[in-house]
Amino acid sequence: MSATNIRRAIARTPLAPVAAFPKRLANVARHDARVLRVSAKWLFTSREHHNYTYDLTALSREHLAWYVAAVCDTGVKQVRQHLAEIEKDDQLRRHLEAGIAGAARRGLADQRVRYGRRIGWYAIVRARRPAHIVETGVDKGLGSCVLAAALLRNAADGAPGRVTSLDINPEAGYLAKVEPYASVIDLVIGDSIAAIGALDRPVDMFLHDSDHSVEHERNEFTAVEPKLAPGALLLSDNATKTNVLPKYAEKTGRRFLAYRETPKAHWFPGDGIGAAW
Ligand SMILES: C[S@@+](CC[C@H](N)C(=O)[O-])C[C@H]1O[C@@H](n2cnc3c(N)ncnc32)[C@H](O)[C@@H]1O
Repeated sequence: MSATNIRRAIARTPLAPVAAFPKRLANVARHDARVLRVSAKWLFTSREHHNYTYDLTALSREHLAWYVAAVCDTGVKQVRQHLAEIEKDDQLRRHLEAGIAGAARRGLADQRVRYGRRIGWYAIVRARRPAHIVETGVDKGLGSCVLAAALLRNAADGAPGRVTSLDINPEAGYLAKVEPYASVIDLVIGDSIAAIGALDRPVDMFLHDSDHSVEHERNEFTAVEPKLAPGALLLSDNATKTNVLPKYAEKTGRRFLAYRETPKAHWFPGDGIGAAW
């Protein structure tokens, strides 16, 4: 009897789980060892303690291009050009590096700029050309600057827009206070629910990225509904963790699609983008 036939015979007996155990152990150990290696390297090379930054794997970036193409009903070639546009934007990269290097809290930030899923936000803004974006949750202002960079390119193409960026922390948004990005960013400090209620212009694109509790995410979408322009796009940075946006989409007769990012060389499993339109 060959080794293969012996294995097949054992697989049909009560001994099968015991026989398979060494292989199963090796598989999980290989996976966990890789995560441990990446985690140990990160502990000593990164300074971040939340809102982690990383690049996407090549495959995840390609899936993001197709995701944006579906959400924006546009060609994937055009989206790929927009992804490349932000990745090659040296002015934005230099601005962010200088802002981080000069920040009081630079000891808790990485010098190297990595956008992760935010390149998808950029491509969405380039494709949809919104006149008014609202972003809740600013932190350093990395996302605000990415959105602003897209708005500045749209303006150069004849479709200007602004982003209202909301954060409860008075120290938030230091990267968003420098020109040319500051010229299209309205930074508002305060609780997002109150700030959304005070908005006096229709919202074409809304991005939830603040307090990621189910209740707060739901309250933001409820608060922004009467402020939305016809055909507005709603995004959530929380879509891989909660079911708030798909439920909201169903209740309001919208479509929903989610993308889950895969970070390159990072222990963090990644976030994603949820879209309702
Ligand atoms: C994940 S960070 C935002 C990341 C940012 N959008 C980016 O692209 O890097 C979450 C932010 O939400 C803010 N936040 C938490 N609760 C909030 C609330 N109730 N209203 C407004 N901002 C809030 C925090 O201060 C924090 O800066």
